Amino acid sequence: MKLYICKDYNEMSEKAAQIVGSVITLKPDCVLGLATGSTPVGMYTRLAEMNKEGKLDFAEVKTYNLDEYYPIKPTNDQSYRYFMDKNLFDNINIDKANTHVLNGEAADPEAECAAYDKAVEAAGGIDIQVLGIGNNGHIGFNEPADKLVSETHKTSLTESTINANARFFESANDVPRHALTMGLAPIMKAKKIIMLVSGKNKHAALMEMLSGAITVTNPSTVLNLHNDVTVVCDEDAYNG
Ligand code: GLP
Repeated sequence: MKLYICKDYNEMSEKAAQIVGSVITLKPDCVLGLATGSTPVGMYTRLAEMNKEGKLDFAEVKTYNLDEYYPIKPTNDQSYRYFMDKNLFDNINIDKANTHVLNGEAADPEAECAAYDKAVEAAGGIDIQVLGIGNNGHIGFNEPADKLVSETHKTSLTESTINANARFFESANDVPRHALTMGLAPIMKAKKIIMLVSGKNKHAALMEMLSGAITVTNPSTVLNLHNDVTVVCDEDAYNG
């Protein structure tokens, strides 16, 4: 695991944009695995600026997002489809048909998840997967549990995640109780992984991951089995 400790959120966002941007430069038709949450917003802003400045071209880029609430309409301003459009896709020259987010209103969520895994494979797999981390160590919505799930699946959100994400909704009661999430297999099959970590509230989960021990109580620890992971964190997350 490669670790960059940046002085603050802005430096973290810039570093992460440089790393993701370099993948796009080397492979203009690459497949990006993308994440939501507050953490990658600064990186998305930088990527959009680099696109406007003519330094990055998204015309042939394909994207697959990690997760989506379930059930939720894509037009709901808390859906991850809405988030991605607003924070990145509407601000770059990407073909929207090449952007993929799990369908939060799929009538058959299991079929939706299975088709998603097939589509990622058919696209040639993910060249670089962007990840954040939950306070409890979740990646995507792979929550701490007795058993971790390989394939993309429907999952229940933990109380900790519902409370953490309540800040985006009117109240914790409005947070959907379920989500569709890429499983650990498609994440671990990504050729490269970059994890962004910002803020003191992520310190404990980050330290557990960096310890190298693998545990189901902190799903991010499985990343220790991947041979190309770059963690870009800020000093608050690293020092606690
Ligand atoms: C969310 C998402 C994750 C994200 C994490 C941290 O619930 N499902 O993909 O990495 O929680 O979010 P934030 O960056 O807002 O702290």
